[in-house]
Amino acid sequence: MANLSKINALMCGTGEYTTGWVGTGASKSDKKIGVVGLTLFDLRRLGKVDQLSMVGVNGGKFPAIRQHLAENIGGVYKDMDLSFEEYPEGGKVDPEAYKLAIEKLAPGSAVIIFTPDPTHYPIALYAIERGMHVLITKPATQLLSHHVELIEAAKKHNVVCFVEHHKRFDPAYSDAKARAQALGEFNFFSAWMSQPKLQLEVFKSWAGKDSDISYYLSSHHIDICCWILQDRAVPTRVVASAATGIATGEPYNCVPQTEDTITLMVDWESTTSDRHRGTAVYTASWTAPLKAGVHSAQHWYYMGEKGDITVDQAHRGYDVTVDETGKMWYNPFYMKYSPSETGHFDGQRGYGYISIEKFIDAARSVNAGSATPADFDAHGLPTIANTVLTTAILNAGRISLDEKRAVFIKRALSENGAEQWVLE
Ligand SMILES: NC(=O)c1ccc[n+]([C@@H]2O[C@H](COP(=O)([O-])OP(=O)(O)OC[C@H]3O[C@@H](n4cnc5c(N)ncnc54)[C@H](O)[C@@H]3O)[C@@H](O)[C@H]2O)c1
Repeated sequence: MANLSKINALMCGTGEYTTGWVGTGASKSDKKIGVVGLTLFDLRRLGKVDQLSMVGVNGGKFPAIRQHLAENIGGVYKDMDLSFEEYPEGGKVDPEAYKLAIEKLAPGSAVIIFTPDPTHYPIALYAIERGMHVLITKPATQLLSHHVELIEAAKKHNVVCFVEHHKRFDPAYSDAKARAQALGEFNFFSAWMSQPKLQLEVFKSWAGKDSDISYYLSSHHIDICCWILQDRAVPTRVVASAATGIATGEPYNCVPQTEDTITLMVDWESTTSDRHRGTAVYTASWTAPLKAGVHSAQHWYYMGEKGDITVDQAHRGYDVTVDETGKMWYNPFYMKYSPSETGHFDGQRGYGYISIEKFIDAARSVNAGSATPADFDAHGLPTIANTVLTTAILNAGRISLDEKRAVFIKRALSENGAEQWVLE
């Protein structure tokens, strides 16, 4: 890695995940100073990244964002260079400013997309077609057909395209993935992930309109299940069911079609045995109780032929009780915000950080000619090609809810004669 050139990076989206700034102030979630900006500033300090830029929709937000970063990153960690170019320029409002921001980059630069779900596909495609390496947050796309298009575009332009499924880098999850391989044929998987009702206030502008809680939260564990079962089983049929009534009532008043809790039931078929079939149940909710002591409740269960695995990602055996706020369970294995003994940022081993660093390392090694994008598919990383079934299941779930029917996932020949995944 020592001889690789530094890479320039554009952050698309200036919100909670990128900066921790949510328009009214710092986020009240577990990401008060964000993840992407902080990680890239630290990777610049460590010599992997060079120039940075950021694009949102409303350029008028940048003075407040810069002040928030200066106080909470510059004022807390030593040696952080917080400089970046901003788009739209001059405080303008422009939802297509990402185009100019991408055009300003040299091919081989990195583009990291944390914007609302329906915008991932057009921004990613625009960047890939101009020769950029792209990291897209989950859900990569809402439609399977868009995901397939991004796979083809990334291949054509020979760029790295990863989906930011950071849970694959959680040490407990990646160890569990390896152990699952020794448990024989797959039989049953169930996952629960939820956030407290107050998130409906935070997500009000898009909840139920532009996306749903299954895309937002179940994307995480559907991807983990697809990763565990890669090359061993395939999903064939999805049936979805939803609970409603809380999000659409007082005081949240979300649009009438907003679901509270969505469950997808998925049939899986072994690719190595004629006899074995499995069932997976993925549930996500944004109407979980307040004051549960965690921001995201999240746990899953895997059963194979010869054993089972249980993981509780929300309770890590580490809790803190404060008189005013009660007991909270924290997860420093994701993002560790407390500084090092020298006063520098100290979270380089957190899987939120590692996930972005792996992408930056992959893009730099392709630029240096020491790796090809296909190498990362072979390594089982969350590349756009390796995550296609995650999108297939999420998209099938949405159709199942809307059309009240089972949706089938199949292989079919495309117009150019290549086999690809489709929904029926
Ligand atoms: N916040 C989290 O904890 C988290 C975790 C993992 C993934 N995600 C994903 O991140 C995405 C949203 O990011 P967030 O959580 O920071 O949300 P956010 O609402 O705080 O920020 C979204 C940002 O996107 C910008 N944006 C909207 N349209 C744009 C466009 N056309 N061009 C450029 N920027 C545009 C907005 O200006 C805003 O800055 C979602 O896809 C979500 O699933 C969020």
